[in-house]
Amino acid sequence: MTTLKDREKAIIEAGYNTFLLRSREVYIDLLTDSGTSAMSDRQWAGLMMGDEAYAGSRNFYHLEDVIHKYYGYKHLVPTHQGRGAEHIISQIMIKDGDVVPGNMYFTTTKLHQEMAGGKFIDIIIDAAHDPESLYPFKGDVDLNKLQNVIDTYGAEKIPYVSIATTVNMAGGQPISMKNLKEIRELTDNYGIKIIHDMTRVAENAFMIQQKEEGYRDMSVAEITRAICDLTDGATMSAKKDAMVNIGGFLAINDDDIFDEARNMVVIFEGLHTYGGMAGRDMEAMAIGIVESVDDEHMKARVGQVHYLGNKLHEAGVPIVKPAGTHGIFLDAKKFLPHVPQDSFPAQTLAAELYLDSGVRAMERGVVSAGRNKETGEHNYPALELVRLTIPRRVYTQAHMDVIAESVENVFVNRDNIKGLKMIYEPKYLRFFQARFEKL
Ligand SMILES: Cc1ncc(COP(=O)(O)O)c(C=O)c1O
Repeated sequence: MTTLKDREKAIIEAGYNTFLLRSREVYIDLLTDSGTSAMSDRQWAGLMMGDEAYAGSRNFYHLEDVIHKYYGYKHLVPTHQGRGAEHIISQIMIKDGDVVPGNMYFTTTKLHQEMAGGKFIDIIIDAAHDPESLYPFKGDVDLNKLQNVIDTYGAEKIPYVSIATTVNMAGGQPISMKNLKEIRELTDNYGIKIIHDMTRVAENAFMIQQKEEGYRDMSVAEITRAICDLTDGATMSAKKDAMVNIGGFLAINDDDIFDEARNMVVIFEGLHTYGGMAGRDMEAMAIGIVESVDDEHMKARVGQVHYLGNKLHEAGVPIVKPAGTHGIFLDAKKFLPHVPQDSFPAQTLAAELYLDSGVRAMERGVVSAGRNKETGEHNYPALELVRLTIPRRVYTQAHMDVIAESVENVFVNRDNIKGLKMIYEPKYLRFFQARFEKL
């Protein structure tokens, strides 16, 4: 624990960017659920079974078997984490002038699509941009928007539709199976592929089980497999669902794309049977994937997130509703209505929360959205959010109570909070390293 004086010093040194704090300056760390979950006893035991042969490690083949069984994809290309896979698939599939429709952008995914010459087009339903909408599947695609992109640009300009389960930037919102089936049907009419960002697919499957009619009797494992079966390939950050500290992969059904990806991975990641991971990391991932689709695990994991969401909702704190799966997202526009988006309300709120209690959250608003490639202006997303991300199997209900108390405290004192100005802006993914000063 730190004192207010310690925290004031720390946040100034960090340029009011929670990514630039040191972990020892943080009391409860809700920066991300990425690589921060607790590995199980079995996963730790798996680390001891690492086969560190340069080529053809036993752990690679185990991982491949698990991916075949639980996700169903034909080919596996391991990468050091999710963005390694995004890089490879974008470079292979996207050409200059292509467009990539998707259910809301994700920071690294979109940047890789742009760096490969593509333009991302958001086709998520309008409700996803409305924090008050109670629609349970705010990750759904608006099929009219997708049809419109196809009509405007032509199917030959669309290398794939990019579908995330769940949608991080919308507040961890799931997509429904019904919608996914409809997307499959529409894309099949035009021979367009679906590439699946499956980072939190098991969490999405759990929400389908709980909220979509007709899935109550299916297990999370069965629903996960059904989701994957509707897509042509996937990028995975295994640091989330699969509860490892590092790791990811590209999975793909198409033989030719696989051939190219397997060739390309040796340039940027490592040999195609380790792709930037140690053998022991692949073993822990294989075990984590099996644990991630366990119904009881998922009930506890999402249940804890919803416990925090209910507490904040009952206290009148504006949050994205309904609660998603990997965190609770504060609606900074409603929380700090007197701070204009140019003064970075979500960035400000994350810094204030840290000052109050040492709880570290992160901005998901105008800073994360970056600048428009053509005009150079800030992108102004409808959602200006602070993400309280809950790592898996790490914190207790008592921690959730402390977090809620602190958010409520900041909410009571919100009128005294002023915005920030950006004094240093990196060129790529600026939210990671940007620096700010108090206005
Ligand atoms: C939805 C989503 N896609 C992709 C990624 C990128 O994965 P990684 O951080 O492993 O590179 C993340 C990670 O935050 C994510 O949440």
